[in-house]
Amino acid sequence: MKRVAILISGRGSNMAAILDAVRAGEIAANVIGVISNRPAAPGLALASERGVPTVAIDHMAFADRAAFERELSGAIDAFSPDLIVLAGFMRVLGADFVARYRGRMLNIHPSLLPAYPGLDTHAQALADGVKVHGCTVHFVTQDVDHGPIVAQAAVAVHDGDDEAALAARVLRAEHRILVAAVRWFCDDRLVIDGNRVRVKHELTGADTLLVPALQ
Ligand code: GRF
Repeated sequence: MKRVAILISGRGSNMAAILDAVRAGEIAANVIGVISNRPAAPGLALASERGVPTVAIDHMAFADRAAFERELSGAIDAFSPDLIVLAGFMRVLGADFVARYRGRMLNIHPSLLPAYPGLDTHAQALADGVKVHGCTVHFVTQDVDHGPIVAQAAVAVHDGDDEAALAARVLRAEHRILVAAVRWFCDDRLVIDGNRVRVKHELTGADTLLVPALQ
């Protein structure tokens, strides 16, 4: 069984989706720890309630990023994880840190990368008037919100959408592709080939999402 560590900064709904899938037997893995850079992150309490060990490492308590990341990697390595999942972890990570976990660190991002890296993705999508938005799971590399893409989900942007409505629709899709990506990693089905990721034995889904639907 693979050992999975999850890093969060807030609510922890993506983390909870992984814990649910592990509990349901959909992911063959043990979640061995949850780490947050925010001691007050609600996701920490959620993890504790489910019996998962938690660690809080407040980034504000460190003089610089390197010092914070030394502490963070110490906490991660103490769990000896096979996979590290950034599930709403809102800190930019330095080159050494990223290199240490290359090929075994996944991130979920709320946009169809390479569109809208960074923050406020839903507001940007609405401002641009795009009809299709979505989310991406990718391996973490030195470039923030780049790196080999494992899975993407596209969702429709509807006329009446505000940021909250769009974020909620994307979040439901985040949970699905993050769980799938973690499952594939834990089943040794992901093959990184340069900037592309192949999922062994993948099924082909629908080819086209039309928004608005043609009539
Ligand atoms: C998600 O939208 C994630 O993609 C973004 O922050 C949000 C975290 O949500 N970076 P949660 O903590 O998993 O509920």
